[in-house]
Amino acid sequence: MLVCYTKHELRNALAGLRAKGAVGLVPTMGYLHAGHMALVTRARAENEVVAASIFVNPTQFGANEDLSTYPRDIEQDLQKLRDAGVDVVFTPTVDEVYLPDADTHVKTGYLSRVLIGRIRPVHFGGVATVVTKLFNIFQPDRAYFGCKDYQQLTVIKKMVADLDIPVKVIGVPTVREADGLALSSRNVRLTPKNRAAAPVLCKSLDLAEVLVAGGGATVHSVKKEILDLLAGMPCGVVESVDIRDAETLAPMRGRIVSAVVILLAVRFESVLLIDQRVVTPPNNR
Ligand code: PAF
Repeated sequence: MLVCYTKHELRNALAGLRAKGAVGLVPTMGYLHAGHMALVTRARAENEVVAASIFVNPTQFGANEDLSTYPRDIEQDLQKLRDAGVDVVFTPTVDEVYLPDADTHVKTGYLSRVLIGRIRPVHFGGVATVVTKLFNIFQPDRAYFGCKDYQQLTVIKKMVADLDIPVKVIGVPTVREADGLALSSRNVRLTPKNRAAAPVLCKSLDLAEVLVAGGGATVHSVKKEILDLLAGMPCGVVESVDIRDAETLAPMRGRIVSAVVILLAVRFESVLLIDQRVVTPPNNR
């Protein structure tokens, strides 16, 4: 596995590898867990060349967010990627990625102002800018992102369509612990008490799926059932429960008659956990 620290090294490495066939990119911020490795496995199955990036992108963190405490373990990450058969990894410094006088960024719209974007106003603009840069640096044929970060995936798919970026964006299903907790680099920062409570997010989504699959459910009734379940948590603060159109993230009302995405955000002290599920009513299957 080639490890590149500069754009120049990476472009040279890819120039040699590209002759083998399609390039699949897995962008990450490191501290890799089984969720990331599912992206790598999928990329490995679908491409001749697998590339990954490890870069904790400062522009997607707000002033009071967890950039300095974001977990990092570069040696372990490189070993995991090597073991998974990745061909080339880009692990640049912030100065290598961003010019000191950078004056251009990707401006995202509605999709990044709603939901998590209301809690983290600079987040999706930072993601869109760094992902565009990574697409330009790697020029991959396919790029892999977790469905767990559903809003991020939606923002990136829309950006790629709107800006005619020549890459196929692929969403990979969420990987979960045995008790249903979605894997996240943030989970290691949960206290034992919070960790024990955290699977309630997944349980709420299970409940919502059953209600919607049964037919006749309304946005209001499903939201109420979820909030009732979350109210029984011994700890944690509900930041948001949203039911939106699965594709456009437009707010929904009344009976659920088409695919919706249920998005949850629950804060356990300083750790914000999110989870999501797309659910489809019986008439729409
Ligand atoms: O999902 C992440 O890890 C990050 O938001 C991404 C896509 C690598 C951009 O920094």
